[in-house]
Amino acid sequence: MVGYDAEFWEQHYRTLDPAWGTSPNQTMVDTISALFPGAGAALELGAGHGGDALWLAAEGWTVTAVDVAQTAVDRIARHATERGLSDRVHAIRRDAATQPLPAGPFDLVFGSFFYAPGRDSIWRRAAETVEPGGALIIVDHGSSAPWSWNPVSHAHPTPQQVADALDLGSAWHAELLDTRTRLATGPGGQRAEVTDTIVAMRRKAA
Ligand SMILES: C[S@@+](CC[C@H](N)C(=O)[O-])C[C@H]1O[C@@H](n2cnc3c(N)ncnc32)[C@H](O)[C@@H]1O
Repeated sequence: MVGYDAEFWEQHYRTLDPAWGTSPNQTMVDTISALFPGAGAALELGAGHGGDALWLAAEGWTVTAVDVAQTAVDRIARHATERGLSDRVHAIRRDAATQPLPAGPFDLVFGSFFYAPGRDSIWRRAAETVEPGGALIIVDHGSSAPWSWNPVSHAHPTPQQVADALDLGSAWHAELLDTRTRLATGPGGQRAEVTDTIVAMRRKAA
């Protein structure tokens, strides 16, 4: 999947129901809960309407949620306030492709469906902010949902291909490379089975 520019995403969120995407992706919930329980400092890339960030903050984490679309960032902040989580969710507008990432250190860096120009090198930069023993979790599309605005006709990369493209080096090891099928809800309330690709990497303890 190609990455779109900031203007595309800004227009996307201006026309999107503000309530959509405020629940977490169950694949991300299950992966973090199973492999990295506890709490700490987390960085999310491409946070959208903040479903994952808000869930993680409610679990006790402090989350820096980055997105290129100001409309999305403003909505995350509003939802965090409404849920009493504003002290644990820091939503910031940043173009991760062209601007520096928050410095960290973080115990967890993660993102669901974060597709941006040069995203492998963005993930590598983000991985540098992870403490030894910490984790990087990527959930990607393993199939195109019927409501996708960018359906792909070719096969989606496998978890191993995603991990190989990251090329994190010998300081990291793969905790989980897998796919998972779940029932998802689209922006219009449509329901369909989708497949997620899971890449969970852990930085080796120093
Ligand atoms: C497919 S959406 C996924 C949103 C959310 N994680 C979710 O699962 O609903 C991709 C997100 O990445 C953001 N994004 C795209 N390019 C970006 C960039 N260069 N820097 C930061 N965020 C970016 C978009 O604004 C959008 O919110």
